[in-house]
Amino acid sequence: MIKETDFLVIGSGIAGLSFALKVAKHGKVILISKTRLEETNTKYAQGGIAAVTYEPDNFEKHVNDTLIAGDGLCNKKIVEMVVQEAPTQIKQLIDWGVQFDQNEKGKYDLGREGGHSEYRVLHHKDNTGEEIQNSLVRKVKEHQNIEVLENHFAVDLITQHHLGKLVKRNHKDTQCYGAYVLDLSNDQVETYLSKVTLIATGGTGNLYDTTTNPKIATGDGVAMVYRAKGIIENMEFIQFHPTSLYNPGEKPSFLITEALRGFGAILKTTEGKEFMDKYDERGSLAPRDIVARAIDHEMKISGSDHVLLDASHLDSEKLKDHFPNIFDKCLSLNIDITKDPIPVIPAAHYMCGGVKVDENGCSTINRLYAAGEVSSTGLHGANRLASNSLSEAVVYADRAAKHAVLQIKDTEINKSIPEWDTQGATYPEEMVMITQNYKEVQQIMSNYVGIVRSNLRLERALRRLEIIYIETEELYEKSILSQKLCELRNLINVGYLIIKMAQEMHESRGLHYTIDYPKKGNISEF
Ligand code: FAD
Ligand code: SIN
Repeated sequence: MIKETDFLVIGSGIAGLSFALKVAKHGKVILISKTRLEETNTKYAQGGIAAVTYEPDNFEKHVNDTLIAGDGLCNKKIVEMVVQEAPTQIKQLIDWGVQFDQNEKGKYDLGREGGHSEYRVLHHKDNTGEEIQNSLVRKVKEHQNIEVLENHFAVDLITQHHLGKLVKRNHKDTQCYGAYVLDLSNDQVETYLSKVTLIATGGTGNLYDTTTNPKIATGDGVAMVYRAKGIIENMEFIQFHPTSLYNPGEKPSFLITEALRGFGAILKTTEGKEFMDKYDERGSLAPRDIVARAIDHEMKISGSDHVLLDASHLDSEKLKDHFPNIFDKCLSLNIDITKDPIPVIPAAHYMCGGVKVDENGCSTINRLYAAGEVSSTGLHGANRLASNSLSEAVVYADRAAKHAVLQIKDTEINKSIPEWDTQGATYPEEMVMITQNYKEVQQIMSNYVGIVRSNLRLERALRRLEIIYIETEELYEKSILSQKLCELRNLINVGYLIIKMAQEMHESRGLHYTIDYPKKGNISEF
């Protein structure tokens, strides 16, 4: 089956939905999501969305905080642009129906998180993401120009390669004509042809066995763009959130928002001793890379499998009012956060790198845009400042939309694209090969490519990943496609990119820390 559209949007998180809403008055939109529209990283966001709202905050402070967190690798122009445009795009979210908490004076109640020098995080209780997700889904469903396809899995982007032509990563004229998409209701691969395509497929937390990300986060967008010969960058910077709830076996790991530390909660060892001041003068509110590494270190010293986050000294009524979901979740595990410390561990959380884009969200492939977590804009550098990703997503969805609306005016749909070839493919004999390899990939990445790395660990990880890569490619070549098989293949691809880019770093910087080069910027010292 072949379908045609002006705008093909892959992904139904904040980036995909807001892009779709912006372009829909200019043409037909098909928006696909691999599960239900609502199941996205966006839905799980807790802390909120960072933007300058009131004095004493100002753009300069937000820019500086972002640059400091990014450890010298942010693109300053992009940081200034996102910080300045974020308030307008947040106003747009409010116009679409998103509600942020206000105080009794009618002013937005601003939260604070690690690395922020001011209170600047707009939020809806401790479930900001759900509020954003539900409001945007409602708007998208109402729009007549947007066709929504749930349970549709994008397998590969279509380029000249599918017309038998050679496509190389350094070519400037690679075109994206749409995508091959697996309809999960009947296992058929359909051809979606578009004038322009937006990749908004989110992150890759499931590459690690402990993650705050829901199951959908398997790096599909990065893998698809890499296979289509687009440029991917900064993949070594995988952010581990310092405080996910320690509750072995629970997937995804439940997040304990950094806003709780912004509210006054303090990290302690299992013996009840504060430790963050040893590592950074900002204590429990230092940027995430520093806090996650400090926790990892403390756990190694003590042999404990978690540390504690203590909020018991805070006003209990205010605590329950600001963090009702965390209160309920912990209570369901017999932890009363107004009295008991919360056991926490770091968990894979956010992919700072991704598909390289310019200031309009254009990837290095023509007619292909990327926005949200899948993209690498230059905003985050070596470590994302908390709550900057939702702002980045709306700013880039807006910029990409403005660019794409002009682009479709002189773009034709390419009608000569062949349909997906399934000849000779059969169902895999044993699904266990896929599930087992999936787990192995997670173990390799968690054991060797986590918070603390070394040359030896990276080398080992690569060798082991290569074996799984060969097995999976063999299976892929002869199999009728399934979501699990495609996701496994994508995770392997993304794991490979992380390791390769980590190996190219001869220093420790931001989220990439290696014991072989423990310092920043000085190769010759070691
Ligand atoms: P997502 O919201 O992840 O959406 C991805 C979409 O792509 C989904 O619809 C998925 O189905 C679809 N998709 C993926 N692959 C395919 C495929 N192959 N085919 C079809 N569809 C596909 N950031 C903040 O700024 N503030 C916060 O407070 C905050 N809290 C967070 C808390 C948690 C627990 C987590 C996990 C993240 C948090 N983040 C936060 C990060 C932020 O939520 C994400 O970076 C952001 O929501 C990503 O939005 P997105 O639109 O790029 O992708
Ligand atoms: C949190 O609420 O701690 C998550 C914020 C983020 O990841 O930006």
